[in-house]
Amino acid sequence: MQFKEQFLKKLSSAKKLVFFTGAGISAESGIATFRGADGIWNKMKPEELASFNAFMKNPDLVWEWYQHRREIIHKVEPNAAHLTIAELEQYYEVTVVTQNVDNLHKRAGSSLIYELHGNIERNFCVDCHTFVNEQQFTGDEVPKCEKCGGLIRPDVVWFGENLPQDQFSAGEIAAEWSDICFVVGTSAVVYPAAYIPQSAKRAGSYLVEINIEPTELGRFVNYSIFGKAGDVLPEILKFVEDKK
Ligand code: OAD
Ligand code: ZN
Repeated sequence: MQFKEQFLKKLSSAKKLVFFTGAGISAESGIATFRGADGIWNKMKPEELASFNAFMKNPDLVWEWYQHRREIIHKVEPNAAHLTIAELEQYYEVTVVTQNVDNLHKRAGSSLIYELHGNIERNFCVDCHTFVNEQQFTGDEVPKCEKCGGLIRPDVVWFGENLPQDQFSAGEIAAEWSDICFVVGTSAVVYPAAYIPQSAKRAGSYLVEINIEPTELGRFVNYSIFGKAGDVLPEILKFVEDKK
C-alpha cells in the first residue's frame, strides 16, 4: 500500500493520535453497519427501535432487539483494525473516540476510549437510574429494577437523546490536541458526534479518513485512504514499526 508522502511525514513527527470510529470499523468483525446496502436502518425503522418512545411503547420488543445485538457482539472478536489501534499505544498517545456501542475497542486493549453513544454492555433503570452492569440477563422480556421495579434499558444513546456530555467534551478536547485525527469507518452524518473531526481540523490537526467508499467528509479531510480498516491500519502500523 502506497501512502501519501505528506501523511508519512506527519506520522513520523506526530505524538498524539485520535481515532474517531464508527460502525465500519466493526464490519470486518461481522457486525452490520447502519447505512449502506446491508445497513440496519434499511431493514428496520430507527424510530421504532432506537428511541425512548419506542421503548416505552413496546419495551419487550426493543429489549429483544438489543439482546439480539448483544448475542452477535458476544460471538464476534475485535478485528485487525481494533487491534492495530491498541498496538499503536506503544508509539503514540492514542485516544479512541467512538460512536460504537459494541465494546470492541475495549476488548482489543485500547486504554483511553470515549464512548459518544454509550455501551450496549451497560444497562440502567429508567426510573431510579441505578446501573445494572454485570448482570447477564436471559430471556427476551425486559427486566425490572430490583430496587424500584422500573424498566431496565440499555445505556445507549437513542434518537432524540443527548450524548453523554463528559464523553463528548473529553473526546473533542483530545481531537483538538491531536496531531493526526483518523476518521475510520463512519459515514460522519450523525451529529453532534460528527463535530469531532471538524473540531480537530479547525484546531490544526491533520485529518485522515479511512473508508471503503467516498463520504461527505471527503472534501474536508487532508487525506482519504480508500480500503478496509482492517487492511489499511496494519499497513500504517508496519510503517511506524519500521521507522522507530
Ligand atoms: P454508518 O453505517 O452510517 O457508516 C458506516 C461507514 O463505514 C460507511 O461510510 C461505510 O462505507 C464504512 N465501512 C464499511 N465497512 C468498512 C470497512 N471494512 N472499513 C472501513 N470502512 C467501512 O455507521 P456510523 O457512521 O457509525 O447512532 O453511524 C453513526 C451512528 O448512526 C451510529 O453510532 C448510530 C447510528 O444511528 C446511534 O446509535 C445513536
Ligand atoms: Zn430502579
